Amino acid sequence: MKYNFDEKIDRTQTISIKWSPERWQQMYGESDIIPMGIADMDFKVSPAIARAVSKRAAHETYGYGYPSDEYLQACVDWQERRNHWKIKPEWIVYTPGVNMALVCGVEMYTEPGDSVIIQSPVYYPYYDYVLGTGRKVAFNPLLNKDGRYEMNFEELEKLAQDPKTKFMILCSPHNPVGRTWSKEELKRVGQICADHDVMIAVDEIHSDLILGPEAFVPYATVSEEMAQSCIICTSPSKSFNLAGLLVSDIIIPNDKIREAFIKKMAPYYLWPGNFGAVAQIAAYRESEDWLEELLCYLRGNAKYIADFIAQRMPEVKYHIPESTYLAWLDFRGLGMSNDELWNFMLHEAKVATDHGAMFGPNGEGDGFQRLNFACPRQQLEEALSRIEGAIKRRS
Ligand SMILES: Cc1ncc(COP(=O)(O)O)c(C=O)c1O
Repeated sequence: MKYNFDEKIDRTQTISIKWSPERWQQMYGESDIIPMGIADMDFKVSPAIARAVSKRAAHETYGYGYPSDEYLQACVDWQERRNHWKIKPEWIVYTPGVNMALVCGVEMYTEPGDSVIIQSPVYYPYYDYVLGTGRKVAFNPLLNKDGRYEMNFEELEKLAQDPKTKFMILCSPHNPVGRTWSKEELKRVGQICADHDVMIAVDEIHSDLILGPEAFVPYATVSEEMAQSCIICTSPSKSFNLAGLLVSDIIIPNDKIREAFIKKMAPYYLWPGNFGAVAQIAAYRESEDWLEELLCYLRGNAKYIADFIAQRMPEVKYHIPESTYLAWLDFRGLGMSNDELWNFMLHEAKVATDHGAMFGPNGEGDGFQRLNFACPRQQLEEALSRIEGAIKRRS
């Protein structure tokens, strides 16, 4: 391996939301925990990104940036090379994060009181985009088939038929269950949305993090009709660990939808920050070999969890994810309520995972925890050992 993903990095002095003992104390009443929640990685960025950001910092001028041709072209070339998706630079709209773009999509296509389809369990801010803007969530819970999740197309069709349902947010690949949706699955979603006039935003933020043999299929490549009726949210932030640099690229092939999106964003006067822009270029132009090694390491971690659980805590169930660096761990075998499980993780195991119930407020996440395994293996081993020890002390 050219890159050292085993290196342990002290992040406690970096104003990191994940690694702040001060915040742990405030939130959890604990200071000795291992943070395995928040979705950023405990690895250094690629050397090319570090060099580009350092060079930009050394310039000592930090005025407004803009989405330069080089910035846009890096994204265009990345999509073609990695995903065989030919896009045009003018289809890309910069936003300082996917969250903002998704809220914007909800507001553009719905009125307060309308419904937005969300497939739970899912990245919990989706509920905030909808409920926080006075809309309603139309829940289409995923079907858990022995740990592998599938979409419920019959229910999806029923929800889409409701004239109040105007919008859908699809997480592809899906956080937290780690599914890489197949072309056939995406096609069925696209057909249902087209049949019932439901606009869709597809959150492809995890699309570079493919661990299994199933290839990632960009939603807009499935058919021209689907390409012309969607908002696609992409970003280098998950795969290259740039979340703190606030950079995302919203790709909208349809002129009318894109113009409306740009109009909606215009009053915010958003420009890429100096560091986010150079980091994106260095990520997409010079860091592909780093990403490939990262994926090997993550596959090793995903397998490590499977072996650990099989040998040392069979009460827990886990299905190796096809994508993302998130393990969706099923603790239902321990027979605890959600509150008990939360307290158990924090105060007995002293591991801060993300609480499953947040991802599925109607019970779809009950008894689950989401564990971020984008960390050195030693840290993963220590976190799992703490959970194992806590389970043993209970029995
Ligand atoms: C599925 C998904 N969408 C969006 C985000 C947030 O994106 P951003 O930081 O670009 O707003 C995350 C972060 O973990 C995520 O997992």
